Amino acid sequence: MQWLTLILATTVVTVAYAFWKTYASRRLHPLSAIPGPPLAAITDWYISYFALKGNLHYQINKWHNAYGPVVRIGPEFVVFNQPSSYHDLYAGPSKLLKSERYAAVSASHDPNTISAIEKETVNTKRQPHLATWNGSMMQRSEERVVGVISTFLSNLVQPLANPDAGERPDALWSASHDLGEKCTHLATDIAMGLTFGDDPALLKSETHHWIPSVMDFAGQRAVACAMQPWIYKLKLDRIMLAVARKGILTLGKWATDRTFERRRQGINEVSRDLFDSMMTSHRGKKDREFRGKDMWLEAFVMLGVGTTTTGPTMSSIFFYMLHNPQVLEKATAEIRSTFSSLDDIRMGDTLKGCSYLRACIDETLRMVPPVALPLPRRIPAEGAFIGGTFMPGGIDVASTLYALHRNGECFPEPNTFKPERWLDTETESYKKAKEAFKPFSEGPRICVGRGLAEMELNLTVARTLYTYDMRLAPGPEGCCASAKSGRCADRTYVSYAGASVSGPSVQVRKVV
Ligand code: HEM
Repeated sequence: MQWLTLILATTVVTVAYAFWKTYASRRLHPLSAIPGPPLAAITDWYISYFALKGNLHYQINKWHNAYGPVVRIGPEFVVFNQPSSYHDLYAGPSKLLKSERYAAVSASHDPNTISAIEKETVNTKRQPHLATWNGSMMQRSEERVVGVISTFLSNLVQPLANPDAGERPDALWSASHDLGEKCTHLATDIAMGLTFGDDPALLKSETHHWIPSVMDFAGQRAVACAMQPWIYKLKLDRIMLAVARKGILTLGKWATDRTFERRRQGINEVSRDLFDSMMTSHRGKKDREFRGKDMWLEAFVMLGVGTTTTGPTMSSIFFYMLHNPQVLEKATAEIRSTFSSLDDIRMGDTLKGCSYLRACIDETLRMVPPVALPLPRRIPAEGAFIGGTFMPGGIDVASTLYALHRNGECFPEPNTFKPERWLDTETESYKKAKEAFKPFSEGPRICVGRGLAEMELNLTVARTLYTYDMRLAPGPEGCCASAKSGRCADRTYVSYAGASVSGPSVQVRKVV
């Protein structure tokens, strides 16, 4: 009988608390006037569910379409979807700092470049990256980038497995390749090569093919914790970590061994990788000097960006080109008429002059920004105006690049791949689009790797188009086989800390 009373009392208290919490968060809270999904106003578990599934970027876009440019996505979390609010959030006079939600983005409880919050720590962490990924240093890296791209290109041309195909024109086409996978391997080899001075050769052997999936998992854990900070505070993520324990331990050991070995080799002023910059940037400044663990943490940052940003963007560029044959034709013609040999395709004014290629890259970064989830900032105690709306102190605010880039007011026909929108720089529509186009973000926390990303994207796409004709793999393995209209309409992707993609499946044919 006593048990029954206890259960009854607990139920009544829980229900009463749930009612009170709902009423308070929806009626009495300073954010109660801001529209949004009802459950989101009550608990952060709501968005963390979508974050875990990898589709929060699509949900937030839907919510903006349903509720407008300012949406409450958590009890104390609001997202904005206009260029002016984006500027206020990330580069405005309020100088908002990152929210503590970023803590789990580090592989340890110590901060890395992405999770650092205080200005001084941020400057310390960013410095070696800025020293490695700037103009003159990037020129030194070009040779290595071109070398990895050459391996990528020779990988693609493996012949068709069917020996009977010899008499058919199909024999000229290669076997089918999952470009999503290949481009991720390419970007990881480049990022790791420029970090450690030596790459894990994902393009050459299968030994390290497990790395991207472990990094996907790490990104999934990080965003689940960022969207529901109690997961991190109560260490619930350790349950998640237990599930993928083996892969994480193997990756941790791999990065530790690499860090140890690279530090043992010492500084190489000539080739200059990220470790060189970390060992030299704050030399002699006791409180800023990078320790072994700091370097290890940055190696993880590079693993993350290597596997989940540039690689997925590259394969998405090919995805859109291959699904829009006239675009592929135009971009290919531009590259082949501009360059007379593969070796000529280098960074510089000639490649910069390939405006159609540039437009294809930008249009892809618009439609599939790899960093697609809200990038939370914390409102200081005195409050701040974001896009004209006053936000009280302590609230987390953000913008979501996926939603901003699909905002129909800034980009007419937002779900259509149209490189042409970037070609005429004098038009009003171009200026409007440019203002809302922030794939690398802006302000003091703008991406430090933009120069490297641009180099990888331009050189890879230009060199591939120069070397090969390309087509979507025919038959059931092709990506359009299951599309109702017979053609995939848009690139879909899973969004954690970066993007996770698969496909398209393609074949290539050497240009004679
Ligand atoms: C297409 C490729 C890439 C895109 C679209 C991209 C985009 C972004 C965005 C939007 C941010 C801001 C995140 C935030 O506010 O929390 C960011 C930050 C960052 N990116 Fe990239 N990124 C790319 C590639 C790279 C590469 C190749 C590197 C490494 C060389 C890199 C290193 C970083 C780092 C370290 C930060 C943190 C900067 C800070 O918070 O101060 N990214 N990136």
